[in-house]
Amino acid sequence: MKKIMILPIALMLGACTQTTAIAPEKNLKNIEAKGVSYADGLVSAIKPVLMESLKSDPTGASGMMACANAAMPLTDEYNKQLPSNAKVRRTAIKYRNPANKPDSKDTEVMNNIMASKNFAPVVVEMNDSYRVYKPLPMAQPCMVCHGDLKTMNQQTKEKIKEHYPRDLANGFKLGDFRGVVVTEIKKISYLRLR
Ligand code: HEC
Repeated sequence: MKKIMILPIALMLGACTQTTAIAPEKNLKNIEAKGVSYADGLVSAIKPVLMESLKSDPTGASGMMACANAAMPLTDEYNKQLPSNAKVRRTAIKYRNPANKPDSKDTEVMNNIMASKNFAPVVVEMNDSYRVYKPLPMAQPCMVCHGDLKTMNQQTKEKIKEHYPRDLANGFKLGDFRGVVVTEIKKISYLRLR
């Protein structure tokens, strides 16, 4: 009698624990669109702080500090507003803030962007996430802080030296590839009970 009872229970348990992973979002165009819109959102959050400081001090000297102090907290704050499986960050081959140092995939993707001179977004599938790389070209307002050190305002240059002694993010020309905003979107697989 006991054995007869156990069998159906075991079958039921077996059925319940047998799960089917539903493939994560496979439509890369959707992922790209999402990634780019999250990246644009970060740029829109940082830009006003930058432009405001440049308006009050066009040399970039005080803006340097505004950027140094605000960019990271603004990024953290912005990430809290995104869905929990999404996160944005900035990186560059020639970076200023060591916290923005690229990993090997970042480096590979950015080298390709530079070689191809194609500034279209790039989507990369990782093991458990997708990355959307949004390239940032050097525009006029960027020049005061990322341009040629020889022509840069003395005070701005000193601030860079003081805060980023290993700065690599200078010497860019207008239109150069400056870096990327990366959106990382974690794959979510739903477990479905049979
Ligand atoms: C007022 C000075 C200033 C201006 C103007 C400025 N930046 Fe920066 N930028 C900085 C500083 C300081 C950092 C390092 C601190 C941080 O943001 O993490 C930085 C960091 C960055 C980074 C992150 C990677 C790294 O090098 O650490 C990117 C990408 C970037 N800037 C792109 C730009 C672009 C594109 C523009 C023009 C739209 C621009 N910046 C204008 C000061 C400036």
